[in-house]
Amino acid sequence: MKFNGCIIGAGAIFKCHADALRAGDNSVLYGVCDIDKEKADKAAEEYKIKAFYSFDEVLKDERVDVVHICTPHYLHYEMIEKAILSGKKVIVEKPPVTDKEELYKIINNGWGDEICVMFQNRTNPCVKKLFEIAKTENIKAIRGFLTWHRDEKYYNSAPWRGTKAFEKGGVLINQAIHTLDIMSVIAGEHESVKATLSNKCLENVIETEDTVDAIIKYKSGTSGVLYATVSYGENSSYFVEFTSDDAIFRYCDSKLYKIKGESVEIITDELTKNGEKAYFGYGHKKAVAQFYDFLASGKGDFISLSSAVNTMKLLFAIYNK
Ligand SMILES: NC(=O)c1ccc[n+]([C@@H]2O[C@H](COP(=O)([O-])OP(=O)(O)OC[C@H]3O[C@@H](n4cnc5c(N)ncnc54)[C@H](O)[C@@H]3O)[C@@H](O)[C@H]2O)c1
Repeated sequence: MKFNGCIIGAGAIFKCHADALRAGDNSVLYGVCDIDKEKADKAAEEYKIKAFYSFDEVLKDERVDVVHICTPHYLHYEMIEKAILSGKKVIVEKPPVTDKEELYKIINNGWGDEICVMFQNRTNPCVKKLFEIAKTENIKAIRGFLTWHRDEKYYNSAPWRGTKAFEKGGVLINQAIHTLDIMSVIAGEHESVKATLSNKCLENVIETEDTVDAIIKYKSGTSGVLYATVSYGENSSYFVEFTSDDAIFRYCDSKLYKIKGESVEIITDELTKNGEKAYFGYGHKKAVAQFYDFLASGKGDFISLSSAVNTMKLLFAIYNK
């Protein structure tokens, strides 16, 4: 059985969802919704799908089975709530929620297991392998680094970017959230965290942080460090590494390394022979397909909001909100 998906927000991430919906065995790209009529019409024309100009119209359409929430962060929770109460299934872009209150409303309403969250990096081959190894290792320490470049042009590309009211944070809630999520899947729930959020280079451009550093103590006893900035000169490959009793497992440059004494072994390699990422565009396709396959068969795993609760709790602890 196939399910009809409608993408809410025809912005930068729209294409990843549209292509994923088209590629899936159990999904149909049915519609797009944007309050900016021109954007909705352009996307609808390109993909030959139905255009909507308000979320309420989408919710009234009985042919829509799943809504893909791809709007600015401050709208995520209210759209999730409206969609579920209207009987729609939900895929929400990261961050699924923007504060603890919203997170607990989802948990207390029992919606966590039915909402899919777009932490698509979890489906990358190296990350999957890292998770698999982590299950059998005693992890002493874990660290994550993200050094990317976002400039004034990027922040001016949409009015919500870099604002406290609409983006609800900076590098942590937007770019480094994937790194934090990978660390949380591996190390579990945090016990305490000491962090600094700062704006080092973009003071006149954004209200939010361009840099975050955090020292984390997990309940398992693992110690963690996260460093992320969007004020680096380029977008370098992100880095996640853990040290176990056995070895160091390091994910960077699209490769997973096992380092033991002087031996450095590549366990998984996401690069093709041409140096291209084998998984380019793959994450969204894989994550969306998992969810629709689950809807069709009632079997299998998808990236549920419940599985991201530790990530979101740690994120809110770092923001102290
Ligand atoms: N998973 C990833 O790796 C990834 C990558 C990029 C963006 N994102 C996430 O996707 C979301 C959207 O980001 P973007 O870069 O595409 O933003 P964007 O600003 O390019 O697009 C957002 C769109 O939403 C529309 N919109 C605003 N309010 C609306 C409403 N009430 N109803 C319908 N449409 C509305 C805007 O007009 C705009 O076209 C964010 O949550 C962002 O963090 C995720």
